[in-house]
Amino acid sequence: MERFYITTPIFYVNAKPHLGHAYSTIVADSVARFHRLMGEDAYFLTGTDEHGDKIVQAAEAQGKSPQEYVDTISGLFRDLWPDMNISNNDFIRTTEPRHKAVVQEILQKVYDSGDIYFGEYGGHYCFGCERFYTEKELVDGKCPDHQTVPEYIAEKNYFFKMSKYQDWLKDHINKNPDFIRPERYKNEVLSLLESGELEDLCISRPKSRLTWGIELPFDNDYVTYVWFDALINYITALEYPEGKKFEEYWPKANHLVAKDILKPHAIFWPTMLKAAGIEPYQHLNVHGYWLVEDTKMSKSIGNVVEPLAMKDKYGLDAFRYFLLRDMVFGQDSSFSEKALIGRLNAELANDLGNLFNRTLSMTHKYFGGVIPRPDVEDIVDAEIKKIGQDAMKAFQDNYSEMKFSRALEGLWELVRGLNKYIDETAPWTLFKNEETGRLQTVIYVLLENMRKIAVHLWPVMPEASEKMLDQLGMGFDQEKVNLPKELDVWGLLESSETVAKTSNLFPRVDLPEVKEEPKKPKKEKAKKQAKQEKKADAGDGTIEFEDFLKVDMRVGTVKEVEKHPDADRLLLVRVDTGDDEIRQVVAGIADFFAPDDLVGKQVVVVCNLKPRKLRKQLSQGMILAVKSGDELQLLTPTSEVEPGSKVS
Ligand code: ME8
Ligand code: MG
Repeated sequence: MERFYITTPIFYVNAKPHLGHAYSTIVADSVARFHRLMGEDAYFLTGTDEHGDKIVQAAEAQGKSPQEYVDTISGLFRDLWPDMNISNNDFIRTTEPRHKAVVQEILQKVYDSGDIYFGEYGGHYCFGCERFYTEKELVDGKCPDHQTVPEYIAEKNYFFKMSKYQDWLKDHINKNPDFIRPERYKNEVLSLLESGELEDLCISRPKSRLTWGIELPFDNDYVTYVWFDALINYITALEYPEGKKFEEYWPKANHLVAKDILKPHAIFWPTMLKAAGIEPYQHLNVHGYWLVEDTKMSKSIGNVVEPLAMKDKYGLDAFRYFLLRDMVFGQDSSFSEKALIGRLNAELANDLGNLFNRTLSMTHKYFGGVIPRPDVEDIVDAEIKKIGQDAMKAFQDNYSEMKFSRALEGLWELVRGLNKYIDETAPWTLFKNEETGRLQTVIYVLLENMRKIAVHLWPVMPEASEKMLDQLGMGFDQEKVNLPKELDVWGLLESSETVAKTSNLFPRVDLPEVKEEPKKPKKEKAKKQAKQEKKADAGDGTIEFEDFLKVDMRVGTVKEVEKHPDADRLLLVRVDTGDDEIRQVVAGIADFFAPDDLVGKQVVVVCNLKPRKLRKQLSQGMILAVKSGDELQLLTPTSEVEPGSKVS
């Protein structure tokens, strides 16, 4: 069996987990799940990084001992992951004895081979970064990251001969062009390696300054520099050196990190491995940063996005989908609830949700809920099958290359294609004309494609995917799914199984309920408001596209009409708009139509108008009409469509 190994960074325990940590971990989870469905044995590691100055300072600030403090915060990470449906195989902490042992073993090995030496070093030390800066790297004498003046420290320390491996690393990257991906980060690393000589890496801290770390095996006056310690977690967890897991998974090691820690992963780590006689990892996968309103997330600005709050508000799967769909892997992305709601409504509730709702309800209407046996195939059926194969192939290829956004975009070609296929094959007409064989084929083509979509979505939205497969009467069994086979296999859905009546996986969320994100500086906000008012004043009458999208207009079939008991001009029109219940609209059209004229007609209904009572009768929407002279016309499609079809 093919093996696969995916890791997240081990996160510092100096702050609570936020959107950024959740993103990396959700990506890693989806990648692990994807490879499992590709028929591989995927091992997935995450954990926490618990040594170093930063942690000691954070503990002191809370009046706790370092151990007490790291136990608490590490627990916050560990406890969050099940809530995000994270399927990690192990959770590593750098304070565990298993890790200490491996770090000391590597140190001793590299020391014995002569690649660690003792030397005097003076440098500008930034406590925020926990590293020395050279004169050249400082900006106006300050740390470029923390904007603070580093402290000049001269002391004796141990150094790792990183410079010795510079040419080897350059060569390795050139020979393995996707060692670091996407390409921009490979280029960044190469230009760093080509711009001058690498400095050796200071890998110790004297105990006089820091005791919270792993003691050097060859000098007990020193502890290990936190990065030299942390990176080794990736092999500790595989039980290096003797473990079977190390032998099996290490050749397929994929690290996942954000751009902030590119250098330690792209330069320190491969050279450390080389010096220790270990093969380099297979891929370093680097993603960009989530910004909030185009600025960095930070506690002091107060714009930190909490993963659990997003889950509670929008559902975990919508949150996971948004993160994977919205960020182009490698680039920065701006997080906003508005954008999340936009995708939730358009892509999940509308495209995917409607496909499920419509098809399940038609299966019930035409076949009592039982999956029909397909009859002969038509050209349109072959066409949509081909669209499906192409979309799934593209999905699999893109996912393998960490191009999640493109993978999902491609899969939606099929989702939208199927909605179009419904409109074009018009099953309701086939039903009316009693073309049963044709109707059986159309419904089967829809259901089987929906099954394929559902299994492909499991890495992204595991819970929704499993629900979809339940609704299709077959459930989910990880052992039985194989994505590459899905490209050729047709007909796994058993005719004679019964499907669910309704789906309703992704209820729409109303935009107006979202509070303005409060963190815009006041001035700017006022300016923006003034601008908006001015726009309104200018009276150009335009609305944003999002505003238009808020209007839920659907075609409905009129089932019953009555005169309003207390108002001559009003009719009570009961319309089937594809919901579970018949909707009543109170319409001021009694002067133009007799109740019987309307029954059976199709009309356009605004479905998300706030329901209200008109002369004591409930009105759930509005029927669109146009007045021409003395006449009133109702808007209607040029030929009959399925009740509930969206107007857009
Ligand atoms: O650097 N957008 O830990 P750390 C996207 N302990 N991802 C983000 C993010 C954002 N705004 N903010 C954080 C460390 N991340 C070391 C790692 S590994 C051997 C040691 C994610 O807690 C992203 O994965 O500062 C980033 O690389 C990581 O958190 C940094 O986590
Ligand atoms: Mg950090």
